[in-house]
Amino acid sequence: MSYTMRDVAKKAGVSVATVSRIMNGKGEASPETIAKVKKVIEQLNYKPNLLAKRLSERKSNLIALLVPTLNNPFFPELVREIEKEANKNGYQIYLCNSDDQREKVEYYLDSMVNHYVSGAIINSLHVDENDLSILEERGIRTITIDRANFDHSYSAITVNHKAGAQSAVNHLIQDNHCRDIVFISGPRDEKSAIDRLLGYKMALEQVEFPIQTKVVYGDFETESGYQLIQKLLMDGEKFDGIFSSNDAMAIGAIRACYEFGIQIPEQVKIVGYDNINMTSYLHPRLSTVDQCKEEIGALAIKELINLFNNRSEKPNHYELKPKLIIRESSR
Ligand code: RIB
Repeated sequence: MSYTMRDVAKKAGVSVATVSRIMNGKGEASPETIAKVKKVIEQLNYKPNLLAKRLSERKSNLIALLVPTLNNPFFPELVREIEKEANKNGYQIYLCNSDDQREKVEYYLDSMVNHYVSGAIINSLHVDENDLSILEERGIRTITIDRANFDHSYSAITVNHKAGAQSAVNHLIQDNHCRDIVFISGPRDEKSAIDRLLGYKMALEQVEFPIQTKVVYGDFETESGYQLIQKLLMDGEKFDGIFSSNDAMAIGAIRACYEFGIQIPEQVKIVGYDNINMTSYLHPRLSTVDQCKEEIGALAIKELINLFNNRSEKPNHYELKPKLIIRESSR
């Protein structure tokens, strides 16, 4: 059985960053902790120096791409854009699907090291600055996108979701005269969902007449959009607009409306978020907010190549502007 740095950390009861520091002889740990970690390294027969040596000598043309799920079409579409750009520049993608589980994230973070990847594009709520530091220490340049928590000192690409949500809600209120709006939010702990909720609230604060609102929370999957709207309709709730925090849940919401004989857009207008490819083939075609997948792909690869070529290059943070796309569902 081969052990990882995480196994050592767990057994010694310290963080992975502490193990990494001790292995690199960088101090900043008490003599007791150093002794404890060294003992565990010995017990597990962990070979940190060998691994580190091999890693500093070998690098591949692989770029790891960690995604939270492949169930939602947004992610395969994003993967495709990133892969296209990587291939254009002579790199291949090592796809790591975490299924939104910390256990799988850990498995893949270790595996990135073992596969000698040159860079990593991280899209996960379950990765923190500690994890990024370990990758960088192993010579793997990193950039976070989308779901990642951006409170770190490495490169990042974000999208201004507050502005995106605000434009969608303004469109429902100003262009479509909706006065009773349901917001299907994404998960409560997910940064991009929280920002869209803030954007929704900002749009409501700007109107001078009363708007009835209701916020319901889904999990970004189609089924949750379906269940939430079905429940509201079964409870006899009335509304004339729906803003959904992503397209997948909007598709579920459309299905629920259809089953209750509600006409879209005649009785209820609906706007989604993401601009996944199938939204322009739905009936009715879904209005949505485009979150620049092509741009994210191109920028992520460009930034990594820049970091590969200039090892001393400082990380950058980019913010992209999403764009409202108006289609039949809100005309
Ligand atoms: O549809 C999936 C959603 O989760 C996207 O909007 C993306 O931004 C993500 O975090």
